Amino acid sequence: MKLVTDNIAGIAPYIPGKPLTELARELGSKWPAEGAIKLASNENPLGPSPKARAAVAAILDNQNLYPDGAAFYLRQAVAKHHQVPESDVLVGAGSNELINMVAQTFVGPDEEVLAPVYSFLCYRLACEILGRRFVPAPLGADYQYDVDAILAKVTPRTKVLFIANPNNPTGAYMNKSDFETLLARVPSEVIVVVDEAYFEYARAADYPSAVASRGLRERLVSLRTFSKVYGLAGLRVGYAVMPAELVGLMNRVRMPFNTSAVGQAAAEAALGDSEHVNKSVALNARELEAMVRDLGALGIPALPSQGNFILVDASGTKLGAAGLNEALLHRGVIVRPVANYGLPKHLRITIGTEAENARLKRTVGELLK
Ligand SMILES: Cc1ncc(COP(=O)(O)O)c(C=O)c1O
Repeated sequence: MKLVTDNIAGIAPYIPGKPLTELARELGSKWPAEGAIKLASNENPLGPSPKARAAVAAILDNQNLYPDGAAFYLRQAVAKHHQVPESDVLVGAGSNELINMVAQTFVGPDEEVLAPVYSFLCYRLACEILGRRFVPAPLGADYQYDVDAILAKVTPRTKVLFIANPNNPTGAYMNKSDFETLLARVPSEVIVVVDEAYFEYARAADYPSAVASRGLRERLVSLRTFSKVYGLAGLRVGYAVMPAELVGLMNRVRMPFNTSAVGQAAAEAALGDSEHVNKSVALNARELEAMVRDLGALGIPALPSQGNFILVDASGTKLGAAGLNEALLHRGVIVRPVANYGLPKHLRITIGTEAENARLKRTVGELLK
C-alpha cells in the first residue's frame, strides 16, 4: 500500500515569499545594519488600517470563545458593500481557502479545471491535491490574456475556469470587452471564478468588476481578499460573491470555524476604512510608475501592471534573475523569484513604501555597477 496517492507525491510544494524571520536566521550575524525589507508577497506596505487595529485590540479578550463560523457580521458588511444579498457571500481563510473549496466542492473525478498558464499557482495546486486534471491555457503576446486561447481549451469536462484579474505574477488584466465575451461564450455549466485579489489597485479605465458583472452569467464566482490593499494578510480573510446555491454547497465543505473572530472583526473594520484604501492605492500608483521607470533605466524592463507588484525581466543584467535575487537577499532585500511559475528570467517585485522602493533601486544599482 502506498503512503500517499501519486497526485500528492507529485506535488511541487508552494514556495511563498521568504519571511523576514527566515532571512534573519539565514543571515545571522551578517544581518544588515539598516535591517531588511520584504517586497515579495504583494502585501500592503502601509500595514493594516487603523480601524482594523482598533477592532483587533477590542476583541482580543474574547479569544477563549469560538468564532461565529458563519461570519454573520462580516458577511453582512460585505453584502452591504457590494449591494448583494447576504446569502450570496461566503467567507474564507484568505481567498486561497476559497480556491481550494471551489475545487473540493465542484470538481468531480472526471472533470477538469482550466486556468491560463503563468497565473496564480494555487489553482493548479487545488487540483493536484484532489487528483483532478488541471489544464493550462496559453497566454497571448507579452503575457497578455487571450480569450480565444482560453475558449479553445474548454472541453465538455471543464468544470471550473479560474481567471485572476489582474493576474499574478504578470500584472496583466483582462479588459471589459474581452471579459464579457468570455462570460458569454464559456458554456453555462462551467463555474467561472474571477480572482480579484488586486481589484482595488487596477487603474485601467476598461478594467471590469466581476461582482458588478453578476447579471451576465449565473455560474460566476468573484473572489476578493483582505490580504492585499486592506493590509491583513496575516489574519487570513477573503470572501466570495456568488449565487446562494453555490454558497450553500461550499458551506458543506467549509470547516466549521474556518476564519478567526479576530480576522472577521479586523476585516469588517477594514472594509469601512476607505481612507486607508485610497491612501494605499495612491501610494502604489505613484511608486509603481517610478519603479518601472527607474528599474528600466538600470536595464530591467517591467511588464505593465495593474497590481501592486511588477514582473521584471532581469535576464539582461550581469547577474541574471537568480543571481540578482541571491545578491539582494544578502543585502537584506527580499523579492520574489518566479522560476517555479515557469519564468526563470523574471523576478516579481512588490511596490513598497517610498523608502523601501528607494532602497531596492539603490541596492540594484550598486549590485549592477
Ligand atoms: C491572484 C491571487 N489570488 C489569491 C491570493 C491568495 O491570497 P489570500 O489567500 O491571502 O487571500 C493571492 C496571493 O498572493 C493572489 O496573488
